[in-house]
Amino acid sequence: MTDYDLLEKQLRALLKNEHDPLANTANFVGLLYDALPDINWLGVYVLRGEELVLGPFQGKPACVRLPLGQGVCGTAAIRQQSVLVPDVEAFPGHIVCDTASKSEVVVPLLLENRVLGVLDIDSPSLARFGEDDRKGLEKLCAVFVGDLSGKSAGDFI
Ligand code: SME
Repeated sequence: MTDYDLLEKQLRALLKNEHDPLANTANFVGLLYDALPDINWLGVYVLRGEELVLGPFQGKPACVRLPLGQGVCGTAAIRQQSVLVPDVEAFPGHIVCDTASKSEVVVPLLLENRVLGVLDIDSPSLARFGEDDRKGLEKLCAVFVGDLSGKSAGDFI
């Protein structure tokens, strides 16, 4: 099981001395991709108008623009809630970027009640993500956004 408390400490240490949102987002993504087992893609999409636009990520090149309200990412963004998908083929409107992906979790990046974007993680295994992951990832996203907002007044990437 992933040690989310340790990851939180590592994330805080990584963000502490740097104020650039792009650099901090890149390191946030790198930290998580390296630490989480059994994943094939992890990245951030940034909300720009009515679309989520691809930001820093690790994995194969991915879809660049995702419409708000569609797919797993667009659904998490519009609901302002995390979405756990145990089987992507069973999720209506799932947007395929890599056919290797079998399950997915998307966590919105929320600054107060505003969606800045989402964190999206794909796994080649079915039902890879559970409640422990959702809780741990939501905490990490809150730390990440809190740090961003303190340093760049929500001016995300
Ligand atoms: N599957 C996502 C699209 C993004 S990729 O997985 C990187 C979705 O349905 O929103």
